Amino acid sequence: MSAETPTTAAPAVVRTRPELHDALTAWTLSGPEPTDRRAVVMTMGALHDGHLQLVRQAREAAGPTGQVVVTIFVNPLQFGAGEDLDRYPRDLDGDLAKLASVGADLVFAPTPDVVYPDGDPIVRVAAGHVGEVLEGESRPGHLDGVLTVVLKLMHLVRPDVAVFGEKDAQQLLAVRRMVRDLDVDVEVLGVPIVRDPDGLAMSSRNAYLSDDERAAALTLSRALRAGADAAGEGPEAVRAAASGILEAGAGVEVDYLALVDPTTVDPVLADFRGSALLLVAARVGATRLIDNQAVDLAGGPATSASPQENPSD
Ligand code: PAF
Repeated sequence: MSAETPTTAAPAVVRTRPELHDALTAWTLSGPEPTDRRAVVMTMGALHDGHLQLVRQAREAAGPTGQVVVTIFVNPLQFGAGEDLDRYPRDLDGDLAKLASVGADLVFAPTPDVVYPDGDPIVRVAAGHVGEVLEGESRPGHLDGVLTVVLKLMHLVRPDVAVFGEKDAQQLLAVRRMVRDLDVDVEVLGVPIVRDPDGLAMSSRNAYLSDDERAAALTLSRALRAGADAAGEGPEAVRAAASGILEAGAGVEVDYLALVDPTTVDPVLADFRGSALLLVAARVGATRLIDNQAVDLAGGPATSASPQENPSD
């Protein structure tokens, strides 16, 4: 078996801590090669091609005979009051069928009482400043809830490498900071956004969109592209180009548009030169969507959101 021809066998599914422990130990005792690694992809299920791309990258990082673990858990701790915890899409059978084709070895699909046996945890990870701006302003406590479950899953799965999507750019930054600040011995790997052919960033929440809302949602990626195309004229031009498209877009209620330093998520100043990140969050109907785009302020657009220029997305 090679990384290019992953197994098509259905992954084993475990739901409890002892089952997970046994499955991880069995792999360790199976005599993996010294270069083999355990890679984890953490998800909330309702898997789409973006998740599958994370699993492919995990397989590559783990090595052909490494162990690829996918966690599927809708984490109550990261949902605020009035958010979509109850209606968040859940489809374990569909998820398992998709995972069979991309080389996942093991799925850990716990219930909340397995992850939080004592109820809501008293001690949690605080994302600090990173968790208070942008997503944190709109969703107070969200990134603390994410980091708390990510750290718990890292302790339970004990991966060498953890793979996250760049669509949740602020989440990825927060995870990277947590791993560095708390000396967690896990390599964090970011994977570029996967887009539908029309440019819409893949998200489990796209399933909520009606046809009209889906058409309106394309305004987000259009705005990001327009911003990136204005990179040569500096940060103000980037912001203006993107916000012009958003303001003209019907059916889109913008939460924030921000051009930030990707290492801090602080807004870039007018004289900033280098790699920045243009982030947008907006409500389309009842659905809140996020998207982002790298912007190279040193000399024109960086990695483009355009499907034509980035056909593998
Ligand atoms: O990105 C997600 O799906 C979630 O935030 C994560 C990382 C699985 C934690 O619940």
